[in-house]
Amino acid sequence: MQNGENSYASQVPDIDAYMHDLIVTNPLIELTYRSAIQALRLPAGSQGLDAGCGIGLQALLLAEEIGSGGHVTGLDVSPAFLNRGREIVEKAGLSERISFHEGDVTKLPFDDDTFDWIWSSNCAGYGPFEPFSLLKELARVVKPCGTVAILVWSSQQLLPGYPLLEARLNATTSGIAPFVKGKRPELHFLRALGWYREAGLEEPAAQTFVGDVHAPLGDDIRSALVALFQMRWPGAQSELTQEDWAEYQRLCQPESPDFVLNLPDYYAFFTCSMFHGKVAK
Ligand SMILES: C[S@@+](CC[C@H](N)C(=O)[O-])C[C@H]1O[C@@H](n2cnc3c(N)ncnc32)[C@H](O)[C@@H]1O
Repeated sequence: MQNGENSYASQVPDIDAYMHDLIVTNPLIELTYRSAIQALRLPAGSQGLDAGCGIGLQALLLAEEIGSGGHVTGLDVSPAFLNRGREIVEKAGLSERISFHEGDVTKLPFDDDTFDWIWSSNCAGYGPFEPFSLLKELARVVKPCGTVAILVWSSQQLLPGYPLLEARLNATTSGIAPFVKGKRPELHFLRALGWYREAGLEEPAAQTFVGDVHAPLGDDIRSALVALFQMRWPGAQSELTQEDWAEYQRLCQPESPDFVLNLPDYYAFFTCSMFHGKVAK
């Protein structure tokens, strides 16, 4: 991404709506992200970077994990996201422990060996980046033996009983994003272990974290799932048959009498894949 803000804005036409969706979906995903962060065993009192921090929701979890002696720097290319992040962090009383910095993950505005670890969720693994050099750039700012972790949303099953429709939605451009048809398979984010090896990171590892929900759904989870339907398959209409699109609307529109979240046996799950490795001594 050459000009981060402009390029990102072109992918996310309505930043306010996107920030709203991040907040609304948080109750659904927070526990899963927290489990991933805990699995990293970040040292208490350490200093870390959240690269592509968005509105800082994971920076809060990271700060909680490393405790009051630690510090998290949230970096993002979008001033709008950073400003919202500052508000959220101030409201949480954590402004001393979390700061925000505008910048581009592909050209980090930090010296070599600045941080004890780096975390990037749904950014480093998602952007239109050249992953091998991006991983090297992330590793550059982390001290020897420090952790470089990237987490990506990797799958979901949200429409129980409708596997064909869900498979067709997942086969659309937005369903496979950020991957695109014709891209080299090793550039798919599920091949990130190869990125780690190529970047010279040691002990590369992958872990899967699952979140699940079932009926009866609380209001917050219901709202999160409604937002997720919109976020997961935007623009799918043009790639579906009329019949499939009508079925999608019948199941996924809250005002529909057949709204899938009203099923008394509703059950859904999603996975996040985390890749991590250590900077060489
Ligand atoms: C899908 S959001 C993820 C936000 C947050 N990490 C999360 O998981 O909720 C992607 C974030 O990456 C940021 N981003 C995209 N390209 C970037 C770049 N080149 N440098 C820094 N941040 C970037 C966006 O502004 C956005 O906040």
